[in-house]
Amino acid sequence: MSSPQQQFFFLGATGYIGSQFLESAKRDAALYAKLKEFSLVALVRDPESAKAKQLQEVWPGVLLVKGTLDDLSVIEEQARSSALTFNAANSDHEPSIKAIVAGLQKRSADHPNGPKPLYIHISGLAILSDNSRGEKVPAERLVQHSDSTFRLEDFPPTNPHHGPDRIIHAAGAQKENSIRAISVYPGVIYGLGEGISPDAPLLRIYGSLYIQTGVAGTWGPGHNALPVVHIKDVGTAFVKIFKLALEDKAKHDDYFVSDDKAEPLILKRFAEETGKILHAHDLLKDPEHKPFSEAVTNNFGEFGWSAFAGNWLGVSDRLKAEGWEPTETAKLPFWDSLLLETENFVATHKASRT
Ligand SMILES: NC(=O)c1ccc[n+]([C@@H]2O[C@H](COP(=O)([O-])OP(=O)(O)OC[C@H]3O[C@@H](n4cnc5c(N)ncnc54)[C@H](OP(=O)(O)O)[C@@H]3O)[C@@H](O)[C@H]2O)c1
Repeated sequence: MSSPQQQFFFLGATGYIGSQFLESAKRDAALYAKLKEFSLVALVRDPESAKAKQLQEVWPGVLLVKGTLDDLSVIEEQARSSALTFNAANSDHEPSIKAIVAGLQKRSADHPNGPKPLYIHISGLAILSDNSRGEKVPAERLVQHSDSTFRLEDFPPTNPHHGPDRIIHAAGAQKENSIRAISVYPGVIYGLGEGISPDAPLLRIYGSLYIQTGVAGTWGPGHNALPVVHIKDVGTAFVKIFKLALEDKAKHDDYFVSDDKAEPLILKRFAEETGKILHAHDLLKDPEHKPFSEAVTNNFGEFGWSAFAGNWLGVSDRLKAEGWEPTETAKLPFWDSLLLETENFVATHKASRT
């Protein structure tokens, strides 16, 4: 049983996933009661911002610590003081991840006979990329990887998230001063969230890129398939993972979060459908989708090719074995939600220009 003094350090609490987690956790009486035994400390860029104020309403008593992911000494110190750390901020910001791990290892050394500090990290399923460069891969050759057999070392070190994941796995496997590290790999998350930041970054990123470049583009021909999952199902997945972790049932496990039964996101079709809507709203001159020029893809380097032009399909066998079901993904499929979300993105984009 946790003592009331134990600290829960949360990076990214105001984000799309982070703030959905808080809403989903509040609905689960057992997890909510457990989390209330911790004092929640959230790293926020600006404690006076509207989002930070909302966070205080969502989780009364939350302590706001001002800082960015580059305030490494603040992050290390808070992690060192925390029995539980959740990083929902940026899967690929290595300096902050190293600072978290260093803080947790120091905590482990400070309390050699105490429970190991627990770290829950959000990574992403792009780690599974087959680097097909947007080319067609016959259906029978498309691999659906399972989290029950996943091994990081089976994937190229150039794949997205590989570097940070290696740091986390190594910290979990260490004999001395080790930590309990759980990595969670979501697919592409969509849908309107219930938290402080309800809009999916997918449209924020692609919609803005299409408008900025004037092209509804793909990396290569864009035949690659990405797994999808609704944000509310991501919320319930994290509830399950936190409960397993706090009950000591999840040790150093990796969890995939996606719906392998849902129709995946095909980049080409995504560009086609989004491009048409942006064109109808006078935000794109050319409604036709096409491969991006090298001038655009070069800005993202190999990361862009690996993340946006590969197939990365994963099956959430571990969560399914625990009874998790992506029910919201089945209710509102990605392609139906996309129309609504693109219209929503257009309205927000236009409002930001006035
Ligand atoms: N969304 C997806 O489809 C998806 C899928 C797989 C993996 N992921 C990974 O999950 C993580 C979270 O994603 P998300 O969709 O929740 O993103 P998001 O909505 O952009 O939220 C990011 C959160 O991190 C905070 N943050 C970002 N940069 C920061 C900085 N430099 N200093 C301090 N705080 C910072 C943000 O604070 P503010 O509120 O101040 O902006 C926000 O709370 C990302 O690493 C992403 O790659 C996302």
